[in-house]
Amino acid sequence: MADRSQHLIGLLLGAEEDWPQAFEALLRRVPPITDPAGRTHEFVSERLSIEPFDLNDPVRVELVIDRLAYWYYHPREWLKKAALMNGTYLLNSPFTFQSMEKHSAYCAMLRLGLKIPRTVLVPYKNPVDNVRWAYTSAKYNQPFDLDAIADDLGYPMYMKPFDGGGWRGVSRINNRDDLHQAYDESGEMLMHLQATVEYDKFARALSIGAETMVMDFRPDEPMHNRYAVSHDFLSPSAGHQAVAISRIVNAFFGWEFNSCEMLVKGDSVHPIDYANACPDVAITSLHYYFPWAISALVKWSVFSLATGRKTSVDLHTERYFAIADDDSLDYDAKIDAYLALADEYFDTARYQAWCAENLPSFDEQLVEWVSGPDFDRLLTETVAATYPAHEQEKFLAHFRGLTSLWVTDQSVSR
Ligand SMILES: Nc1ncnc2c1ncn2[C@@H]1O[C@H](COP(=O)(O)OP(=O)(O)O)[C@@H](O)[C@H]1O
Ligand SMILES: [Mg+2]
Repeated sequence: MADRSQHLIGLLLGAEEDWPQAFEALLRRVPPITDPAGRTHEFVSERLSIEPFDLNDPVRVELVIDRLAYWYYHPREWLKKAALMNGTYLLNSPFTFQSMEKHSAYCAMLRLGLKIPRTVLVPYKNPVDNVRWAYTSAKYNQPFDLDAIADDLGYPMYMKPFDGGGWRGVSRINNRDDLHQAYDESGEMLMHLQATVEYDKFARALSIGAETMVMDFRPDEPMHNRYAVSHDFLSPSAGHQAVAISRIVNAFFGWEFNSCEMLVKGDSVHPIDYANACPDVAITSLHYYFPWAISALVKWSVFSLATGRKTSVDLHTERYFAIADDDSLDYDAKIDAYLALADEYFDTARYQAWCAENLPSFDEQLVEWVSGPDFDRLLTETVAATYPAHEQEKFLAHFRGLTSLWVTDQSVSR
C-alpha cells in the first residue's frame, strides 16, 4: 500500500486532560487527505508513556506535541533521540528551548532592535555549592553595588529569574528595602533586574505554527477571568507589531507552540516574556479562545505531516541580523522584514491555502463539536476537577457562556 501513509502523533502530557481530549476528538474529524502525488494521509494520535529505551530503538511517532521536556529529563532525551535519529517533528524542540531560555530570548530580540525593557543580570546571591568556587570567588567574583544598579534602572522595577516561568520568584521592587529583601531571598536563583513598563494593555499572543492569536490579558484577575474577550483592544499598529513579534520570536528560535507576553503603551510594544515551552492552553483560562487553539494545533500537525515539513536546529540567525544591521530600515520596516522571514519559515501562505483546500469543512465541524454534548462533558469534567464543589456551578456557567459566545461569533463571521 505504497500510496497510503498513516501518521502517528505523540502527545507527551503532564497533568492535563482538557486539551488532549479536545485534540483527540478533533483529530478524529480530520478526513484522509490525498496529496497531489496521489498519496493518502491518515492521522492518529497516541499518549506517550515514559519507558526505558535503547538508543537504537525505532521511533514510531512522526510528530510530538510535548508538555514535559522542559521539566523532565527522560522524555527530553527521548525527544532528542527521536529528532536526531528519526527526524521526528517536535512542538517544541528541546534543542533550542533548553539552550535559549528567557535571557537568551531577551538578548536575541534586543539584537533585532525590539523594545525590551532595560535588563541587568546580577550574580548569584548564593553561588552553587562547589568546592572550587571559593578560589574563583576570591579571585574573580567582583563585589558589586546592587543599590547603584537599582538607582540607575530606577524604581519601581522587577526582579525575576533569568530563565523564569509561571511567576516563580518574580517580585516588584519599590524601594531599597524591597531590593535587598528580594535579592537575599533569591538564594540560588540567578536574577534579572528589569525596568518597569507602565503599560496600558498586556497583550498575550499564543502562536501555534503559522497561526497567532493576540489576547487581552489581565494579570491581576483570577485565573478564569484573565483573558478578556475583546477584539480591538490594541491600535492597528500595536496589533500588527504584537502578531509580528510573537511570530518572529518563534521563527527565530524554531519554536512552534509558544506564548509571548507584551506590555503595550500607546503604539509601543515591549516584549517581556516569550520563552514559554509549555504555554497555558487550559480551557479554564483560554475559554473563548480554546477552540481556536486546539484546532490550530490539529491543523498545524496534520499540515506538517502531510506536506513532509521538516524542522532543523540550524537557526540562521544571520538572516535576521542582516536586517537588524541595515541602517536604511527604520523600526517598522525591520519588523515587516523580520515578519517576512518568519512567514517564510512557517510557510504561512501555503499553510492557509493547504487548510482551505484539504480541510474545507473542519472549521464547521469544530463549531459543531464545541456546540455538542462531548465538548460540554469535557468542560464539565474539567470544571469539576479544577474548582471546589460550591463554585462549580458558577464557573460552569461562566465558561459555558464564553464558549457559546465563541460559537455565536463563528456563525456571524461566516
Ligand atoms: N518589566 C516589567 N514591567 C511591568 N511589569 C512586569 C515587568 N516584568 C514583569 N512584569 C509583571 O510580572 C509578571 C511576571 O513576569 P514575567 O516576566 O512574565 O515572568 P514569568 O516568566 O514568571 O511569567 C508579568 O506578567 C507582569 O505582570
Ligand atoms: Mg509571564
